[in-house]
Amino acid sequence: MPSCAAVVLAAGAGTRMRSALPKVLHPLAGRPMLEYPLAALKKAGASRLVAVVGHGAEAVKRALPAGVDWAPQEKPRGTGHALACARAALGSFRGTLLVAGGDGPLLRAATLKALLRAHRARRHAATVLAAVPDDPSGYGRVLRDPRGGLAAIVEEREASPAQRALREVNAGVYCFESPLIWKALSALKPDNSKGEYYLTDVLAWLKAQGHSCGVQACPDPQEALGVNNRVELARAEAILRGRVNRRWMEAGVTLVDPSSTYIDDTVFIGADTVVRPFTFLEGNTRVGPRCQIGPFTEVRDSVVGPECRVLRSVVEGSRLAAGARVGPWSRLRPGTVVGRDAHLGNFCEFKNARLGPGVKANHLSYLGDATVGGGSNIGAGTITANYDGKAKHPTRLGRSSFTGSGTVLVAPVNMGNRARTGAGAVVLAGRDLPDGSLAVGVPARILKKRS
Ligand code: UD1
Ligand code: CA
Repeated sequence: MPSCAAVVLAAGAGTRMRSALPKVLHPLAGRPMLEYPLAALKKAGASRLVAVVGHGAEAVKRALPAGVDWAPQEKPRGTGHALACARAALGSFRGTLLVAGGDGPLLRAATLKALLRAHRARRHAATVLAAVPDDPSGYGRVLRDPRGGLAAIVEEREASPAQRALREVNAGVYCFESPLIWKALSALKPDNSKGEYYLTDVLAWLKAQGHSCGVQACPDPQEALGVNNRVELARAEAILRGRVNRRWMEAGVTLVDPSSTYIDDTVFIGADTVVRPFTFLEGNTRVGPRCQIGPFTEVRDSVVGPECRVLRSVVEGSRLAAGARVGPWSRLRPGTVVGRDAHLGNFCEFKNARLGPGVKANHLSYLGDATVGGGSNIGAGTITANYDGKAKHPTRLGRSSFTGSGTVLVAPVNMGNRARTGAGAVVLAGRDLPDGSLAVGVPARILKKRS
């Protein structure tokens, strides 16, 4: 394969979004919008990737994946000017240049490959990707010459009524040849209603100079969707979610109701897991095989082992070992690590809690900054009072320990292996309970040293 580089135009103001966040950073299925075109271009074979940045440049640069270079566009003077700004970053690159907008998240790598193949096979100086959407409004229209070849692209605001009636639109994705494209760009003039340098004008210029230009049809018009406002953002989100859901169903995951299942593009799910309605799997999350997740569940940045059940709960920044059960109605906050076959919930909250294998905390508890040894039973309504108004303190329970209903453990405090508390006990800070002891009352006193 001859060399191929790619430029993503991502410097525009995104005015129509009416947002403080740069348009290309709006998240779609858990990733910033511009990650999608960058990934597609890379997959299509681009060995170098350059993003043109301007509006919100610092934030956009921070969001660029490793290996993507950037080029500054000081002022948004149009798509043609934006591409010209990438010239220095590409140095002496010779070969085919793929160009796409940072606001086109639905573009597929296979479509780019087909575009590249057609461009090279016909030895064109430029090839533009075109689509025929149901509603062409807002896009540039493709004008054909009498022989069916490309004549020019006219922006909607410059188009005559007859041209506006055309339904074939410019998807904003192109192949050019470097260095010829730089010469074409330097000939652009901002003589249009916006006073901008339109990239689309290079096609007519190249043709006038005797170079051949082509059109490549994009079979799925959805791929041409450019996100310019929040309505299009929601449309792109729905389409991307649909693609992600289909991918997991094809990989052996049951989605009981795909239309109410929200899986980020960043998530992994094992086979034969069942995801019930109104469930959100977000961020850096891995769900193992044969799990049951949902309904009404949110799992974010967490690892869920095989054969777990999470029901009507919120799990964030946590790890669940195989066979763990959570919920209904529980909340696992960051730093929670759940051992094999542990049962947590109903109505329990955990924060930075390490729970050993087989731990049961079945009803109405709060365990924060706590370590609980394997096989322990946390009685209904047991609370770790981990905050004294100034600082957080740890609580440790040994293996096979047992707390009576309504126990309050005032941290810092330790309970030994097989230590127990009676119902309503309040164990004061520093009053550690030895292995096998039983403590009761308020404040708790040791009734039995060993049992
Ligand atoms: C552009 C095309 C239009 C096409 C449509 C497809 C032009 C003149 N028009 O219109 O024919 O149908 O895309 O979606 O190219 N950008 C910069 N710097 C600028 C201006 C824009 O980097 O000075 C970036 C934007 O951030 C965006 C992309 O270029 O990611 C496209 O710009 P946008 O203003 O959205 O162009 P459209 O009006 O959608
Ligand atoms: Ca656009």
